[in-house]
Amino acid sequence: MASILIVYQSRTGFTEKYVNWIKESITCDIVRLDQLSQVDLEPYTKIIYGAGIHAGHIQGLKTFKKHVLNLVDDKIVIFATGAAPYDEKIVTAIKQNNFLENERQAVVFFYFQSGLNYEKMPFFDKLVMKTFSKVLALKKNKSEIEDGTSQAITQSHDHSKREYIVPLIDYLNQSQTNTSMST
Ligand SMILES: Cc1cc2nc3c(=O)[nH]c(=O)nc-3n(C[C@H](O)[C@H](O)[C@H](O)COP(=O)(O)O)c2cc1C
Repeated sequence: MASILIVYQSRTGFTEKYVNWIKESITCDIVRLDQLSQVDLEPYTKIIYGAGIHAGHIQGLKTFKKHVLNLVDDKIVIFATGAAPYDEKIVTAIKQNNFLENERQAVVFFYFQSGLNYEKMPFFDKLVMKTFSKVLALKKNKSEIEDGTSQAITQSHDHSKREYIVPLIDYLNQSQTNTSMST
């Protein structure tokens, strides 16, 4: 049994791809969020949760929180995957949308750019994205961000990169070093 557990949810495979890259870099156990009730969390020194972002919200985060009870805990790490390119402003907005005020300061959070996969998207998600895409395309006087988003969401694309996980892996390695030095 590993000391790190990765819990994840993935609808179109992007988060799963990142989970597999993380697994190749560190020793860890992996479980999907819908199987989490079958796992004893007590022995793990780190529990990582990862999922995609939908309309600003990290999918399944509320369910994950019910299992671990408290996100402000040295054990907990959260990562999210999203189509938007990495930007400090985006990370701040994601924290604002998903965490309570006390959690925002303390939570260990990482963001990885991914993409969009219309082929794997469930019907309703596809409908939402196609409608959003058409509305944005028809909008006059688009801002720079709206223009970029409009072009990006017309079709499937994948901007995920293995190197994006480096800060997370560094954080986990550093935490393990600190733990072994204090025992
Ligand atoms: C309905 C819908 C809404 C989305 N909303 C956002 C969003 O607000 N911000 C973003 O960066 N990406 C957004 N995306 C893109 C997903 O976050 C991205 O594809 C993610 O990596 C999916 O992860 P998964 O394949 O592991 O489920 C959205 C995708 C869908 C289908």
